Amino acid sequence: MKDAHARLNITEKDWPRMEVLLKSVLDKHDVAEKEQQELMEIVGSTKADIVTAPQLNMFSCICCN
Ligand code: HEM
Repeated sequence: MKDAHARLNITEKDWPRMEVLLKSVLDKHDVAEKEQQELMEIVGSTKADIVTAPQLNMFSCICCN
């Protein structure tokens, strides 16, 4: 999982967007809330391997951090 996402620059901001999209897919397919929560927990456990881009803050420069 870490290798597959390592060079994708996925940030903290991307994560909740993915969660919203995933939830909309689960809703569309009528996945029950309990199962959704279970899946979200499993997905959440992978976050540290996926969100690996350096975090920007107000003192960071986009090009040189
Ligand atoms: C913000 C969240 C995520 C983004 C933006 C993202 C994006 C991507 C992208 C673009 C690829 C294709 C990489 C390539 O072809 O080189 C990929 C591959 C993959 N992602 Fe994600 N991903 C996210 C979260 C997740 C999560 C939560 C899981 C599973 C729990 C997951 C599982 C996978 C798998 C299994 C692959 C394929 C790896 C392979 O081909 O060997 N991803 N992801």
